[in-house]
Amino acid sequence: MRSLRAAVVGAGLIGSRRAAEAAAHPSSSLTVVSDAVPAVAEALAARFGARRAAHWEEAVCAPDVDVVVVATPNKFLAEIATGALEAGKHVLIEKPMGRDLDEARALARVAERSGRLLKIGFNHRYHPAIRRAREELVHGAVGRLINLRIRYGHGGRPGYEKEWRGDPELAGGGELTDQGVHALDLIHWFAGRATRVAAMTQTAVWPIAPLEDNGFALLEFADGAVASIHTSWTQWKNLFSFEVFGDSGALVVEGLGGSYGAESLALHTRARSGGAPAIHIETFEEPDTSWKLEWDEFVGAILRGDSYSGGPADGLAVMAMLRALYESARTKTFVSLERV
Ligand SMILES: NC(=O)c1ccc[n+]([C@@H]2O[C@H](COP(=O)([O-])OP(=O)(O)OC[C@H]3O[C@@H](n4cnc5c(N)ncnc54)[C@H](O)[C@@H]3O)[C@@H](O)[C@H]2O)c1
Repeated sequence: MRSLRAAVVGAGLIGSRRAAEAAAHPSSSLTVVSDAVPAVAEALAARFGARRAAHWEEAVCAPDVDVVVVATPNKFLAEIATGALEAGKHVLIEKPMGRDLDEARALARVAERSGRLLKIGFNHRYHPAIRRAREELVHGAVGRLINLRIRYGHGGRPGYEKEWRGDPELAGGGELTDQGVHALDLIHWFAGRATRVAAMTQTAVWPIAPLEDNGFALLEFADGAVASIHTSWTQWKNLFSFEVFGDSGALVVEGLGGSYGAESLALHTRARSGGAPAIHIETFEEPDTSWKLEWDEFVGAILRGDSYSGGPADGLAVMAMLRALYESARTKTFVSLERV
């Protein structure tokens, strides 16, 4: 089978992770790395026998590149992804799909015109407990979906306000835009598109106003289901908790591995006669394989035409919900998704 040649633009935490997957996959290799800081690009390129490109445009136009991973601060994501698509490359763009819905919509149009594949880095879809939970939901293990609850957060670190995530121009939004988009993506993946939303934001600790360090959201769906989200940069002990309630039971995902704790899925089966549910818990001990599985799916989509998830439509759905949430927080009203 043909092998894909990958470029990574943005060689920070996530770019390094993506580079390692591209280099390790049997059907891809890493050929080019670019970063605004040359030494950072140099170091990552050297780890995998790739070369450094002086500028992102050189990386995305390189003839020995088939697919580009964009993992820069949010401000540059859509611009670089656009350049890569226009240069005829497939693109894996980190979440969020740009800084706002307008950037995401423009990018989706470019992807459509280009005939190349665009995937948004919603790696949480590939966590084993989350995948299993969705299969259980689809197969009716908890009956009719009635509501969902996600809590997701970490506690930042000293000087967080000086990092790019604390800069409105570079980040586009605060914690709802950062970890919140993963929560929105999972809710969209499990429950479909929300019809109306309400939100509140807080800038409680980090001096990052107008950005929020906490986001609270309620989302309503056409079938009456309701979802709630609390994302936080003041969650002093890292937390990921995703609960899915049906009329005959619940699915409870906890942890993402590492600092978020061991990943587990509990299936609660309602006791019809009352009392405690039957609980079956599965723990996933292996290191985080989501990045590997996500890359593998994208490679299969490019090389074999396999289907893949997290495409432009999923990214746009998330960015539409995000816009509605910020509008709700600003206007202190419910916002209909039809209006955004
Ligand atoms: N999927 C996930 O779970 C997940 C987790 C964390 C971050 N992310 C996303 O990944 C992206 C990067 O986040 P990070 O935590 O790796 O940040 P980071 O700060 O660790 O890395 C960003 C890198 O981009 C470089 N850079 C800045 N501007 C650039 C430009 N114009 N051209 C090329 N390189 C440039 C910086 O020098 C830095 O090395 C963000 O979009 C973020 O939202 C996704």
